[in-house]
Amino acid sequence: MRHETIEKNINLMMVLIILAVSIGGLVEILPIMMSSETTEPAENSEPYTPLRLAGRDIYVREGCYNCHSQMIRPFRSETERYGPYSTAGESVYDRPFQFGSKRTGPDLARVGGRYSDDWQRLHLENPRALVPESNMPGYPWLNDRHVDPELITKKLKTLKLLGDPYTDEQISGAAALVEGKTEMDAVVAYLQGLGTNRTNRR
Ligand code: HEC
Repeated sequence: MRHETIEKNINLMMVLIILAVSIGGLVEILPIMMSSETTEPAENSEPYTPLRLAGRDIYVREGCYNCHSQMIRPFRSETERYGPYSTAGESVYDRPFQFGSKRTGPDLARVGGRYSDDWQRLHLENPRALVPESNMPGYPWLNDRHVDPELITKKLKTLKLLGDPYTDEQISGAAALVEGKTEMDAVVAYLQGLGTNRTNRR
């Protein structure tokens, strides 16, 4: 019997398993890579400004994603609490995306504009000054460190290579835009931009 031949020949079985899993994987992944809904930017979305890009990298460096997701699922319990659900098009300029699933703190996908800049600063310095029961750590050192203007120019150039539509003027003007800015300025700018890249208003 053919089945018996496969079961008794471990090498043949391995090859066939790899083949089956590969085909299954491709069938799942390829359509998503090709669909414009997941690969094209949402209508009013823009690549990150230099300051927000710097803030995003600090967000990643500090591990904020360990406690905060940035993906609102299309369920009522989520949209009632956080706002309109997330779509793929609004994360096109995120490399890598910050979806996450760990929520020790609330989802941040729509946090932009929810609080004032001053609130965000104070909260990042010492969360318990504003939310007494908070278990979020403070990040006071963000006030003492500055964004590196040279590095941000390099980052923009690299992102352009990867397909982000930065113009030459944006790249040559990037360093001046972050000159003298602290890491705190950058993270706050990043947070205030979250959720502004979307088209679905539901
Ligand atoms: C140990 C887990 C933890 C880490 C790490 C963490 N947070 Fe939080 N965060 C929380 C919790 C819990 C809350 C809710 C209580 C509060 O507002 O402080 C919160 C609240 C927030 C809020 C307010 C959200 C809202 O809708 O009210 C923002 C903004 C925020 N965090 C940003 C950050 C940033 C930026 C970082 C990284 C620099 C970070 N968090 C790191 C746990 C964390």
